[in-house]
Amino acid sequence: MKAAERHPDLIGGVLSRGYVELSDGSKRKITDGVTLQEADQISELVQSRECRVTAETGVACGISTLAICMGLERAGIAGCHHFGIDPNQLTTYSGAALQLLQQHGLERHFELLNGPTHLEAPKLLERKVLLISRSSTGGTRSTIRCWISFTWISCSKLEA
Ligand SMILES: C[S@@+](CC[C@H](N)C(=O)[O-])C[C@H]1O[C@@H](n2cnc3c(N)ncnc32)[C@H](O)[C@@H]1O
Repeated sequence: MKAAERHPDLIGGVLSRGYVELSDGSKRKITDGVTLQEADQISELVQSRECRVTAETGVACGISTLAICMGLERAGIAGCHHFGIDPNQLTTYSGAALQLLQQHGLERHFELLNGPTHLEAPKLLERKVLLISRSSTGGTRSTIRCWISFTWISCSKLEA
């Protein structure tokens, strides 16, 4: 059984621990992430919509990224893929998101686009991935914060 199925409260566990263990054994304190409630909403959305390809801008320590990859895993659709755009993952965040995914056996779903959104997002079009950004004009403050820190994008691969 996969980690995401074995541990339904996997993200809660990571958040309450408060750090990501890096490849050199040091601990990167979790900062800047979405809340547990937001992570659960994101994961549920990805799973229930049976997303195949997703993208987010701003990966940080990988809390939203873990939520998205868990949603993809649970949807169980072959060939699913998540793109995370972030110019600071390998510097400011010391690869914490990559480590977090690896520690939970979800790294195969993820690809880091190591640069700012305005340069990396257009490359997805070159790879025949269409991004449809969904914005929220209403809802709670929490929901809006979620949409901002995690730009929810429903993507579909274009026909070759
Ligand atoms: C609020 S944090 C994201 C939190 C993350 N979604 C989570 O739940 O753990 C904002 C992130 O945006 C990234 N960022 C800053 N400028 C960016 C840009 N131009 N394009 C993409 N990401 C950017 C930062 O490096 C940081 O990782």
